[in-house]
Amino acid sequence: MPIQAAVLAGLGAWLPPRVVDNEELTRRLDTSDEWIRTRTGIHERRVVDPGVSTVDMAIAAGRKALRSAGSERADALVLATATPDHPCPASAPQVASGLGLSGIAAFDVNAVCSGFVYALATAAGLIAGGVAERVLVVGSDAFTTLLDPADRTTVPIFGDGAGAVVLRAGSPDERGALGPFDLHSEGELAELLVVPAGGAKQRVSDEPRDHFLVMRGTAVFRQANARMAESSLAVLDRAGMKVDEIDRFVGHQANIRILKAVARQLGLPEDRLVVNIERVGNTSAASIPLALADAAGDGSLRAGHRVLLSAFGAGLTWGSTLLTWPDVTVEP
Ligand code: UT7
Repeated sequence: MPIQAAVLAGLGAWLPPRVVDNEELTRRLDTSDEWIRTRTGIHERRVVDPGVSTVDMAIAAGRKALRSAGSERADALVLATATPDHPCPASAPQVASGLGLSGIAAFDVNAVCSGFVYALATAAGLIAGGVAERVLVVGSDAFTTLLDPADRTTVPIFGDGAGAVVLRAGSPDERGALGPFDLHSEGELAELLVVPAGGAKQRVSDEPRDHFLVMRGTAVFRQANARMAESSLAVLDRAGMKVDEIDRFVGHQANIRILKAVARQLGLPEDRLVVNIERVGNTSAASIPLALADAAGDGSLRAGHRVLLSAFGAGLTWGSTLLTWPDVTVEP
């Protein structure tokens, strides 16, 4: 039997209703709307209310993706998240049950902001190996739950949300077929973006800050610029494609300056960048599917467009993949 490709057949996204704009942040942090807009491109972000979790958001996005695919069926669920509802167990089984899919294979992938691209690759492997025919891939992160509310270096950057796609077995020549993939990591730089306590190395800490995310922003910024550009070129090379064949670049929405710097390095015109960071901030594993859903919803991403997805995150991790956009409908 020929190897089956993973073909994108449905897309959905969900954002918490609570909008926190830059102005609101200036009332509790030593920052300004002007600094946040010019340094990051972010105007507002969505934040979960207490009690709303990564699983809740994943179910809401997953339900929309299944509806978009026109079938409630999936044989496996891969959840990309760095903010599972509990340190143990994984959150994916609860997402599957919440969607009426109890019994299917379900597990988490943690590659932080690169998680969605890693989860796509994992799902494509399940399909290629004949383990599953339809896989629901969800990126869901409640990243604001990791932040020190008094830390102006992280609070303005991150937001919450979820996005999901259905992948089905199909042919590599079809619209929507994913691949090739390019994935990498560099664990020696783990401390650039880390929550020091709460894991096996330091279960609890008397220092409350150890339970919050600590980010060395400028070093992360430099790495993101270099790695996303490198990985984009690598995946194009593997596919035998040139940059000017790409119609839409959907990069992890970490900072508008990073997206523009990557476009510059690639020689890609800026009007091919998909950008929604101004309204959602950095939503970690949800970032790419949220951007896809926004662009597909407003018509800027259309069937037949050749799309490059590229992500970078803590770990460090980074990776890219390619697809030709299929004819999918997205609910608002
Ligand atoms: O999702 C993947 C991982 N995350 C990322 O990719 C994030 C990558 N990093 C970034 O996007 C940027 O590094 C940041 C947006 C986080 C910071 O931008 P930057 O241009 O690297 O600024 P900086 O950290 O070098 O800070 C510049 C100045 C500093 O003041 P001095 O030392 O020049 O006087 C900071 O203290 O801006 C100050 N600053 C702020 N000022 C107002 C830092 N945060 C703020 C703030 N408001 N919120």
